[in-house]
Amino acid sequence: MSSTVHLSLGFSFHQRCSSFFQQSVAMALSLVHSTLFSKTSQLFLHTKTGFSHFSSSIPFSSSALPSNPKTWRRPVISALELGGVKIARDDVVRDDPTNNVPDTIFSKLGLQLHRRDQHPLGILKNTIYDYFDTNYSNKFDKFDELCPIVSVKQNFDDVLVPADHVSRSYNDTYYVDSQTVLRCHTSAHQAELLRKGHTHFLVTGDVYRRDSIDSTHYPVFHQMEGFRVFSPDEWEASGVDGTSFAAEDLKKCLEGLATHLFALEDKSIRLLYVDSVKISGAVEMRWVDTYFPFTNPSFELEIYFQEKWLEVLGCGVTEQEILKRNGKLNNVAWAFGLGLERLAMVLFDIPDIRLFWSNDERFTSQFSKGQLGIKFKTFSKYPPCYKDMSFWINESFTENNLCEVVRGIAGDLVEEVSLIDNFTNKKGMTSHCYRIAYRSMERSLTDEEINGLQMSVREQVQSKLNVVLR
Ligand code: DAH
Repeated sequence: MSSTVHLSLGFSFHQRCSSFFQQSVAMALSLVHSTLFSKTSQLFLHTKTGFSHFSSSIPFSSSALPSNPKTWRRPVISALELGGVKIARDDVVRDDPTNNVPDTIFSKLGLQLHRRDQHPLGILKNTIYDYFDTNYSNKFDKFDELCPIVSVKQNFDDVLVPADHVSRSYNDTYYVDSQTVLRCHTSAHQAELLRKGHTHFLVTGDVYRRDSIDSTHYPVFHQMEGFRVFSPDEWEASGVDGTSFAAEDLKKCLEGLATHLFALEDKSIRLLYVDSVKISGAVEMRWVDTYFPFTNPSFELEIYFQEKWLEVLGCGVTEQEILKRNGKLNNVAWAFGLGLERLAMVLFDIPDIRLFWSNDERFTSQFSKGQLGIKFKTFSKYPPCYKDMSFWINESFTENNLCEVVRGIAGDLVEEVSLIDNFTNKKGMTSHCYRIAYRSMERSLTDEEINGLQMSVREQVQSKLNVVLR
């Protein structure tokens, strides 16, 4: 397992293990590598370059709009309704050091792909609903319209994320202001729903994370949270303790869900507890022990896809403290958070996460309500165009900031940003060379267009990130 290349759901809480220090009211953050929370995460070879400084002098708000009129794509919608609240652009995107939400992200708020019955994410959500309705006689309450703008308390404190946990950093999370974020996981709703008395629930929604760019990472994706509370009489008769009872029930439930999903698409699943030989035609999965602040024990389910182990869900037995704080003393509970895109990519054979956002009929028309088994047929593969850029980084440089600049200019035309060279000279200056892959899913790009994009990228990387181009 030590050779596994680990892809996260954007980030995972167990992987965000550096601590960070909040330095000023303006929230300039200084991130350092420190001890890893998770023993298991040390086993993984991470694909990310890690975390460093985020300077509050880098605005990612309205000024992140492309200055070149040719790259201007569409006006940003002025106001939308979410969870019964009207949200104007100014409520989310501000030229203020405590705000790091760019227009590219604002434009995704309220699209609610998971509520479209003909969209792969909606089809998957409904199929998971069917599984729970059938196996738990409609006991799970379902929420898929909760507002993604939540308090820092809901997103982090309520689920016991430590005050110095790196997931709280401006480098990783979108802050509307110092006390408000775009939720980075659906776990943000656990506490409020428990307090309202729900004991079995599913929460589906869009979640937001600053991240690097490749075929399985996008700064907005969708999760489904599952939560089940047990009362003492449910485990007492079993002869095992509450925690073991819940852990066993959780794995049984999720293995059943996986079987349900893959059986529908006429594939068998093969669950691996140890590495072993691949059986052709079968989907391989495995459980991995891990760490989350909100569960103990904690597990991940991974699926083998595109020659890598892909994390599709995190889960575990809920920390007693969460139950106690929310009126569920003497109970035990399990919870899971499932990445819908990751699972949908495997189930529908969708090769790139950007496709979920496509309005191209050649994509949208391939899926129909209730049809999980359908395999996506690539309508055309347009050639990628690679552009390299090298620069001397400064101490506040982070890859997430670079990716935000690139996406602000090229939008979904950027397929991947990867570090291809990295060295430090005798003077202690560090140079990074990044390769940017431009490729449209929908059309051929002209040289002129790509050169224009790359020129703007170079300009803005220099001016916004204060790096020195080489
Ligand atoms: N919130 C976690 C994430 O986004 C996923 C998760 C793990 C959710 C464990 C849970 C849980 O409810 O119990 O990485």
